[in-house]
Amino acid sequence: MSTDQCIGSTCNRPAGRAGQRSSSVPHGLRRALALMLATSLAACGGSSDDEAARIEQGREIFRHDTFGDETFWSDTLRLHEVIETSVDPQTALAVGLKVDVDALPDDLREAIASGAVDLASPATTLALIGLDAVVGIRGSVEQVSGVTRLTRIGITCALCHSTVDDSFAPGIGHRLDGWPNRDLDPGAIVALSPELDPASRAVYGGWGKGRFDPRFNVDGLDGPVLIPPAYGLAGVRSITYTGDGDEIRYWNHYVAVVEMGGHGRFVEPRLNLEVQNGSDDRVSDKLAALQAYQLSLAAPAPPPGSFDAAAAARGAQLFGGKAGCAGCHAGPLLTDANQRLHPAADSMAEPEMPSYASRSATGRYRSTPLRALWQHPPYFHDGSAASLDAVVRRYDARLGLQLTDDEAGDLVAYLNSL
Ligand code: HEC
Ligand code: HEC
Repeated sequence: MSTDQCIGSTCNRPAGRAGQRSSSVPHGLRRALALMLATSLAACGGSSDDEAARIEQGREIFRHDTFGDETFWSDTLRLHEVIETSVDPQTALAVGLKVDVDALPDDLREAIASGAVDLASPATTLALIGLDAVVGIRGSVEQVSGVTRLTRIGITCALCHSTVDDSFAPGIGHRLDGWPNRDLDPGAIVALSPELDPASRAVYGGWGKGRFDPRFNVDGLDGPVLIPPAYGLAGVRSITYTGDGDEIRYWNHYVAVVEMGGHGRFVEPRLNLEVQNGSDDRVSDKLAALQAYQLSLAAPAPPPGSFDAAAAARGAQLFGGKAGCAGCHAGPLLTDANQRLHPAADSMAEPEMPSYASRSATGRYRSTPLRALWQHPPYFHDGSAASLDAVVRRYDARLGLQLTDDEAGDLVAYLNSL
């Protein structure tokens, strides 16, 4: 591991990067300016028609592309065999898999609604996979000697970073791309593989819903982190909890090759990491479109009436004043990520064993850009704060802010308004 070289310095921060701090500008206006800036940045380098086509292409990749990772999920883990024999739709929904209602033909929708479809049969799972209706799962369903078989399976980005709006039934609805699937238990799915040794199976099986450890297969340590949102990142030039990359595409490349098992090559000298899957590259030339799509995903606004506006306005004052939050959650994106990373101790989730920062390429944490907080509890990279109230209470206790109960409530209302 070469992370030590980075601790105590800002090794991936080129000097002189333009800052965007403009704390004298009112918050709403700052957000509008940030969006305009991000949109114009995203649009430069081509006409808006080209950009729209690129975003559309990126959406297809995000939702449907496996980068050839069937080599890992089928050929190595043999998960298609497990799904074929023992994963009925009820089990699939219970481990947090989601079904895209827009991929279902009308007659099937009606049959599900009327109870005519057997949700306790793996054959139904195969039918859904055959329609590409299981979010983030791609499978080949074929007739083999007159029997319907699932011959291969792979995963896409949408598995972890999309959910559905439950409009049809719990777990069945329209796709919500970029929303982290906090119901999904990716470790439990991997743990189904007959190919794992008992020790690895115990690790994967222990992570729990909404969590995944994208470094376990690299360093062998066990410390899952929350699946984060992939929306609201326009303008943030520091990606992952630890700011490992300047651009989304850096981490997409890492995950597609190192975690998903897609065909291609990923090299990261800071982690002493070099991974080559297959002899072809099915990742690199998709990264630009994939990034454009993610940059187009806006953070969802809080539901109307979900917070007290007057309390939120008081909370905004506290955020910039007595509570001192804006010292790090600064500027229009409510983060100083474009200027600096923080020592591990600045995270309210630390001390943690193993420290997630120490396993990263930077050895540090990024101040999380605060957006759509209402949508994705729990909080901090390890999910150790169950609610925004727990977040505020932890800062209050650790930093000695001496907030009154009313002030803490106002700050929570403000966080809920973002
Ligand atoms: C098995 C679940 C899983 C899959 C599949 C997955 N991710 Fe992630 N993703 C995570 C986790 C966990 C993290 C947090 C890692 C970190 O920040 O250190 C993450 C981080 C990210 C981030 C960083 C967000 C931020 O706040 O900086 C982006 C963007 C992202 N993923 C996009 C993608 C894309 C695009 C794909 C497909 C190529 C993908 N992910 C596949 C689990 C997954
Ligand atoms: C010294 C810098 C610093 C200060 C001051 C600070 N934060 Fe943070 N904040 C961070 C860092 C770093 C993280 C990421 C921690 C992690 O995930 O382990 C973070 C994460 C968060 C998160 C979690 C977001 C998510 O999506 O999981 C919230 C909410 C938050 N901070 C709110 C606040 C509030 C409210 C205050 C003021 C009381 C505050 N912060 C003060 C640096 C700071």
